[in-house]
Amino acid sequence: MRRRDFFKNSTLTTLGLGISLHSFSHSSFYDPSGLPQKTPDNNNGLINLSSNENPHEIPPLAKQAIIDAIPFSNRYSFNLPQFKEARKTIAQYYGVGPENILLTSGSAIVLDYTVRYFYKPGANLVTAEPTFFVLPRTAADLGYSLKKIPVDQNRQIDLAGMLNSIDSNTQLIYLVNPNNPTGVALKPGPIKDFLREAAKKSVTLIDEAYLDFLSAPDNESMIPLAAADPNIMVTRTFSKIHGMAGLRIGFVISHADRIRQLEKNYFGESQVAISDLSLAAALASLKDEDHRASVKKKIIAAREYTIQSLKNLNIDAIPSVTNFILFPLGKYEGNFAEFMLTKGIYLRSNTYLGEKFCRVSVGTMEEMQQFIKVMKENWKSA
Ligand SMILES: Cc1ncc(COP(=O)(O)O)c(C=O)c1O
Repeated sequence: MRRRDFFKNSTLTTLGLGISLHSFSHSSFYDPSGLPQKTPDNNNGLINLSSNENPHEIPPLAKQAIIDAIPFSNRYSFNLPQFKEARKTIAQYYGVGPENILLTSGSAIVLDYTVRYFYKPGANLVTAEPTFFVLPRTAADLGYSLKKIPVDQNRQIDLAGMLNSIDSNTQLIYLVNPNNPTGVALKPGPIKDFLREAAKKSVTLIDEAYLDFLSAPDNESMIPLAAADPNIMVTRTFSKIHGMAGLRIGFVISHADRIRQLEKNYFGESQVAISDLSLAAALASLKDEDHRASVKKKIIAAREYTIQSLKNLNIDAIPSVTNFILFPLGKYEGNFAEFMLTKGIYLRSNTYLGEKFCRVSVGTMEEMQQFIKVMKENWKSA
């Protein structure tokens, strides 16, 4: 077995900030107890590479749309002519009808609601391990038994394994493509084959939060399949490629029958929960393909620089197609994320399938250069 890399400075006694960063699997989108006690502050020079945010600004068109919407903020968006068509506009952009889509305030809420909606005593959830934690966590809290199928040697989701583990109690199948935290994507063909079988047996939700970072033909969405089959749902978000994580816009697409049922249960209020300003920004951003292409190019350049620089340090980062990178920490002892925080870099570390990893989000090129500088100063090969 090859000798592992480890951090020169692995002792946690050197921690200067008194900040505790909880492990990734126990941190939460919503639960502040899972986040560091002292919220990191970018203004203090901390580089935040923890949450797979887009480091680039929203399109100028979207900024202007927010400004233009401010005078109408006293109204609900359903009373504003400029937003009456929002559902239709977004549906049209994705080639489906307005009856196929529900807009939501971010997409994590869809994950949470969906698993609640499908719960029944004895239910199980089939998903991958590791994967994005929100849906499986809610499922576990509700009493689902979890069938987490480990990713394979190449960190690829094991579709055959997932298919084999579906049984008559499987209420939901959750497939994140590209997957978080691995940054690896499945090809569209195998996903379609999987869906053909899986959707006969249970509802499958495909989370395409990061699909926009891929290029054709690998970025083919499962949206058309979802619109045609109540047992297939696709979630998308404006938080990643559109850079609108704080504006909270997402949506779910499925067959009209499924959308109607969801809207009656849990999702009804979600249509009103969306801020006018956020909706204005999202609609404007959809129109700005050029901005999106330029942001994507910058993120890919910073990602490839980071992966190569980690390789130069003998760190075998998992090739990523997203805006984050997962790399193994070998025999590093202690909490790597907490150590990095003492160096001004905020990221996440965790153990997956018995191996320690760090997940770093792709920031600007300058931020990634600083990240690599810190790595160079502290990492050594044993
Ligand atoms: C795979 C995946 N799905 C969904 C989300 C939730 O995004 P949002 O609620 O901002 O749309 C995230 C956020 O990081 C994610 O990684």
